[in-house]
Amino acid sequence: MKGIVLAGGSGTRLMPLTSVFSKQLLPIYDKPMIFYPLSILMLAGIREILIITTSNDQNLFKKLLGHGERYGIDISYEVQDSPRGIADAFIIGEDFIGESSVSLILGDNIFFSHDFSSILKNAFKQRKGAHVFLTNVSNPEEFGVANVDKDGKVLSIEEKPQKPRSNLAVTGLYIYDNNVIEIAKTLKPSKRGELEITDINLDYLNQGNLNATTLGRGFTWLDTGTHESLISAGEFVRTIEDRQGLKIACLEEIAFNEDWIDISTLRGHITQYKNSPYEAYLKKLLEK
Ligand code: TTP
Repeated sequence: MKGIVLAGGSGTRLMPLTSVFSKQLLPIYDKPMIFYPLSILMLAGIREILIITTSNDQNLFKKLLGHGERYGIDISYEVQDSPRGIADAFIIGEDFIGESSVSLILGDNIFFSHDFSSILKNAFKQRKGAHVFLTNVSNPEEFGVANVDKDGKVLSIEEKPQKPRSNLAVTGLYIYDNNVIEIAKTLKPSKRGELEITDINLDYLNQGNLNATTLGRGFTWLDTGTHESLISAGEFVRTIEDRQGLKIACLEEIAFNEDWIDISTLRGHITQYKNSPYEAYLKKLLEK
C-alpha cells in the first residue's frame, strides 16, 4: 500500500493567511498542519508516501520534511499546477502508485481516536475495491454525505446535498485498489470545474465495491479550511496534549515506536528543534 497526501489547493477561505504560502504549512498548535495527515498514513504502516503540492510551495515542504529519512519513510513530491480537484491526485500520482493500491489523505484533515492505527490496518487488509471512513457531523450539507443501511453498507453518496439523508460525512481519508487510476482518467470536471472524489466513490459504489467504516462517537475528525475550524483544531490539539502529556502527530515518535528509526537517528535529529517543547518531548522519549 502506498500513500498520498494531497496538499495543493488554493486555500481561498483562509486568505490572507494563505496569500503567500500553503494552508498545509499553517500551524495547528505546535506543528505544521501537514504533520497530522502524514502521521495518519504512518500510523497505518505506510512508508512510501507522495506529497502533492503547488509548485510555489514544494520547496518549503521539502525543507520541512526532506525525503523522509529522519522518519524512516520515503517521501516523494509532485506538483499540481492548478486545483483541478481531489481525484486529480491519482492522475498526478500514476507513476508513483504503479501497480499498488493506494490511500489518499487530504492535507488539511485531522483524525484523532484511540486505536486508530488498528482500525486503519484492518481496513488496509482489504485489497479489492474502495474503502471510505464516515463520521457524524452537525453540518452534513457541506460534505459528501453517505446513506448507509442497518449493516453499515453504503446505499448512496451525495456531494453537498441540500437535503442530506443522514449526518454521516465521508471524511478525507480513502483507500483504493489500483483501478482508481483508470477511473480517475475517465472523470469529467463537475459544475465547479473539479475532478470529484465523490464521482470515484460512486463508481466503486455502482460496481458494488465500496466499503465503509463508520467511526463512532469517541472519534474526532476535523478539517481546517476556515479560520474558525483552524483555531478550533489548534485548541483541540492543545487540550489533549496538555492533559495527556502526549503529542498528537509527533512523526519521530511514530517512526521510533514502529522501529523505523533507531536511537542514534532520533538523537541526531533532535538538535534541530533547539530548545522548543518539541525537543524536550523527544528527549524524554529517548530517556524512556
Ligand atoms: P478544499 O478545502 O476543498 O480546497 P482548498 O484547500 O483549495 O481551500 P478553499 O476551498 O478555501 O479554496 O481542499 C481540501 C484539501 O484538498 C486541501 O488540503 C487542499 C487539497 N486540494 C488539492 O490539493 N488540490 C485540489 O485540487 C483540491 C480541490 C484540494
